[in-house]
Amino acid sequence: MQKLDPKTDGRSVDIVAENIDKLKTLFPEVFTEGGIDFDALKETLGEYIDGREERYSFTWNGKSKARWLAQTPSTGTLRPCPEESVNWDTTQNLFIEGDNLEVLKLLQKSYYKKVKMIYIDPPYNTGNDFIYPDDFRDNIKNYLELTGQVDNEGRKISTNSETSGRYHTDWLNMMYPRLKLARNYLRDDGIIFISIDDNEVANLRKVCDDIFGEENFLCTFLWKKRTGSNDAQNMISIDHDYVMAYAKTDQVRLNGLSKDFSNYLNPDNDPLGPWTRGDLTCNKTASERPNLYYPIKDPVTGIEYQCNPNRVWAYEKERMERVISEGKVLFPKNGNGTPMYKRHLSEVRSQEKPFSSIIDTVINTIATKETREILGGQYFDFPKSVDLIRQLIGQGTQKNDLILDFFSGSATTAHAVLDLNKDGDNRKFIVVQLPEPCDEKLEAFKTGYKTIAEIGKERIRRVIKKIKEETPDYEGDLGFKVFKLDSTNIKPWEVNPDNLQSSLEDYISNIKDGRSEHDILYEILLKYGLDLTQPIEERTIAGKTVFIIGYGALVICLADDITLETVEDIAGLKKELQPEIMRVVFKDTGFKDDVVKTNAVQILKLAGIEDVKSL
Ligand SMILES: C[S@@+](CC[C@H](N)C(=O)[O-])C[C@H]1O[C@@H](n2cnc3c(N)ncnc32)[C@H](O)[C@@H]1O
Repeated sequence: MQKLDPKTDGRSVDIVAENIDKLKTLFPEVFTEGGIDFDALKETLGEYIDGREERYSFTWNGKSKARWLAQTPSTGTLRPCPEESVNWDTTQNLFIEGDNLEVLKLLQKSYYKKVKMIYIDPPYNTGNDFIYPDDFRDNIKNYLELTGQVDNEGRKISTNSETSGRYHTDWLNMMYPRLKLARNYLRDDGIIFISIDDNEVANLRKVCDDIFGEENFLCTFLWKKRTGSNDAQNMISIDHDYVMAYAKTDQVRLNGLSKDFSNYLNPDNDPLGPWTRGDLTCNKTASERPNLYYPIKDPVTGIEYQCNPNRVWAYEKERMERVISEGKVLFPKNGNGTPMYKRHLSEVRSQEKPFSSIIDTVINTIATKETREILGGQYFDFPKSVDLIRQLIGQGTQKNDLILDFFSGSATTAHAVLDLNKDGDNRKFIVVQLPEPCDEKLEAFKTGYKTIAEIGKERIRRVIKKIKEETPDYEGDLGFKVFKLDSTNIKPWEVNPDNLQSSLEDYISNIKDGRSEHDILYEILLKYGLDLTQPIEERTIAGKTVFIIGYGALVICLADDITLETVEDIAGLKKELQPEIMRVVFKDTGFKDDVVKTNAVQILKLAGIEDVKSL
């Protein structure tokens, strides 16, 4: 039986290996036994190699390390927390508590190219907001220490002050690997919106050009976030933030805004339907367009109307005569005024108008009030307004799309998705938030919220409760599944040569103490790249718990003392469920004895199940 290798399979998807595979498919000739022949690769790419020492590029101290960091697989896992979730069995929404770099690595295989829209509101780097320091050696250990989940030797989470000497560098090193991974999540028609202010807007633009391609830059929306004036330094009141938008490819288009057609009426019972008065002139002068400069005559009254030399007619004479004969020109009743075009609703080509690059319809003071109202107290500083995110989601997605926010804060994005779905839509969210400790001096901590993640989860629970109370018949998805980042459930294969006996005894079970079957189940799902919200059937087969995922695509039995009877009944599932391919995973130490283990492979093979692995 093939083993899921704890060294490699204990980690998330290996991006470097995948990149190498891609390169191999494109240029098999540059691979030698020892690896990649870079000279051969250069020859293959010919004139596209830039050999100049000085060239245009955006770089900073740590960029290569940050790139490398994005590519190293995570050694962590996501542990399910049904007790903190709502509607665990049916919901498609996810709340992941953890450092987003690790989480983005872990979810990558399951959600590769599945996200239509990412919205993030990262730390702006104001000097007071917290920047998570990644550890190149062992980020999971670092994460557990920093978030106080293991002995942290007094290490303190810190802010990034301008005097640190690495002010922008630290921020870029934090953002770069996260954005690089985020891109992999986007569908080809996907879009990312990033909130930012003047501290890092220039760096963000450069780093996004690098990651998404400058040709995919869509817009830096200017969001007017307040009406009153700020503590105006230099007598300038900074009243805006930015929302930077990039597309994954050129297939992206926002939805635009519905046009207002309320001024189209039909007072004369026109058989062509409702109409409105439109301009019959264009913005050209008689000397620019002499062919559009001529008088026109009302065929009913015979009154002639002169052309305005500074704003000539929109059509040439011949077309104008046709339009007049079709009754599409509205002449003034008494000869005073200008003839107008009778524009019918049926000839309006687009039902939408573009979304403005200036967002001035949402003022952020409302956001603090909204969050305070739903949470019952002032527990989170500077949340974004639900309406702002709702507008962005309305522009960037359709009604069944998946939305990701990996700097979730107080969970405004989750709130906005649930709110939008009230109209019968079925958008889904994945939000990620670090269990950043709340300051002990603040109201949130005193009320019992130890971390910002706890505030976010509580907000979602309250939004769900509110929607249920307001619309008891609502049948949409009012739930979310909570997962928490932790070290892998699988023990690393570390043999101590000085104490071989104890090392080997320790390895009799390669599952860490205190980890449940469900913990392991979801780690396997992540490794196979399966969606964490898909339904899992739990059956008792010959006295053992068996998990059936994807209607039999994957069957997992993590029980102990498995007998041939259990194996035969699992083999029978192939016939019963008829999945195209069935994969089966056991615990390596789960079999009653070696005979059962050896025969299991044969029994399953006879039933047409070739992919059998042990953990
Ligand atoms: C500006 S706030 C987001 C506010 C959010 N838009 C709202 O309306 O509530 C940024 C959040 O990102 C979180 N954060 C910072 N570094 C993180 C990391 N490495 N992983 C996950 N979350 C992180 C912070 O704890 C903070 O709550």
